Amino acid sequence: MDKTVQFDFRIIKQALLDWIHSKSPVENSLAEVFEEHRVGSNDRFRIRTKLYNLLRNDSDLVVKIRSLTGIQASRALESYIQSNQSSLDTHFGLKPTFEKDPRKHLVDIHGYQLFEGHLSDQEYQDIHECLHAQRSEPVVAVRVDKKMNRPDNPTVKDLLEKGFVEHSEIKNAYVANKKSGQVRVEQISKMPGVRFQDLSSQVVACAVNYFKPGKILDYCAGSGGKTFQIVDQAESPVEVVSFDVDFKRISKLSDGVKRLNLSQVKVLTKKENLNDLRGQFDHVLVDAPCSGMGTLRRHPDLIYRQTLAEVKRIQALQLQIVFEALSFLRPGGILTYATCTFRREENENVVESLLSQNTYKLKQANQYFQNSDVFRNQVGVRKYGMLLSPNNSHDPTRSQASGAWDGDCFYIAQLQLEQ
Ligand SMILES: C[S@@+](CC[C@H](N)C(=O)[O-])C[C@H]1O[C@@H](n2cnc3c(N)ncnc32)[C@H](O)[C@@H]1O
Repeated sequence: MDKTVQFDFRIIKQALLDWIHSKSPVENSLAEVFEEHRVGSNDRFRIRTKLYNLLRNDSDLVVKIRSLTGIQASRALESYIQSNQSSLDTHFGLKPTFEKDPRKHLVDIHGYQLFEGHLSDQEYQDIHECLHAQRSEPVVAVRVDKKMNRPDNPTVKDLLEKGFVEHSEIKNAYVANKKSGQVRVEQISKMPGVRFQDLSSQVVACAVNYFKPGKILDYCAGSGGKTFQIVDQAESPVEVVSFDVDFKRISKLSDGVKRLNLSQVKVLTKKENLNDLRGQFDHVLVDAPCSGMGTLRRHPDLIYRQTLAEVKRIQALQLQIVFEALSFLRPGGILTYATCTFRREENENVVESLLSQNTYKLKQANQYFQNSDVFRNQVGVRKYGMLLSPNNSHDPTRSQASGAWDGDCFYIAQLQLEQ
């Protein structure tokens, strides 16, 4: 075995053994091991790809080493890595280990049913599709600032040269024509006016802007992905108030707002500062915290970390957040509720609760999806909204209207507060 391969094995083994009994993302363990061994950026890229391929494709191994401790786990991992070197090294054509019933697959991983109760045929298919998608690498999508998105702009030229293709349906979006394992993310992130954002996440802001709102509340704004897109894409003047409880994330948003000099965005970090704004917004966006099951391609370790208790906690939180957020909507205003999961409990069930309560009279507002060539009658239209589902066969040049979709799995529902 050559020296590079041996080195990669050592790092992968250490990161996996550190992570396997923790509840944190594998990325944290990997970062620590990279630091400890002073791994350079080229090597990091190669090693991360191998490790993620292992997590995507070999749940049986992960389950096995979780049941072992210390030296036994280390040995099992060593013998696995040595005999699977070629499949870890390739980005495509990985061996399809996931051919069994998805429910059994999940039970094998967790030892219990992560999805409670009866699953409809549709849910069964969604889970199946997303678990299949987990096996492949995600598609890299970026946004280019509207002002810069011209064919003669050096950034756009550079993106095209690097194999990105302008998306046919989402304005100012570019999609890589190869999977993430081959895209040099750190090169792209240095390009001026370019931001990484998954395609499905970009649809959420498109759905908000469709209604041409003047005053928008981004209630779970995080580090501002949707806020920035809403402002950049708006066709008429907008005022956005962005709020989040996570100080670290919202600070990033604040920094971006200052750097880009966005006077139309006000960032709030304290709930009390929102009190005077009740009933004032044309549009409230709740991009809710969720189980993240729709992002398995990006976070293949998530499936192993998920617990039923956590999923239930999140469901309760989603309802609490969306009720709080509704108080800021003006009569006739629109609520956009979004998650990056396919779990009915976090999607349709939340919307059903909203429609059946009496504090706020709401009705469905599906105009954006109904009037879209891409989404109408295409990818998984649901009772109360839309489920975008990742597709395994990646081809950025193919018309999205064919029913294929290359973003994460996202649920989006829109409701209108009665006048
Ligand atoms: C899916 S992320 C939002 C991502 C963000 N919209 C973006 O585009 O980058 C969910 C966010 O909800 C926030 N959150 C959690 N509990 C909250 C609460 N009670 N009120 C407001 N935001 C909350 C989290 O801090 C997290 O940033």
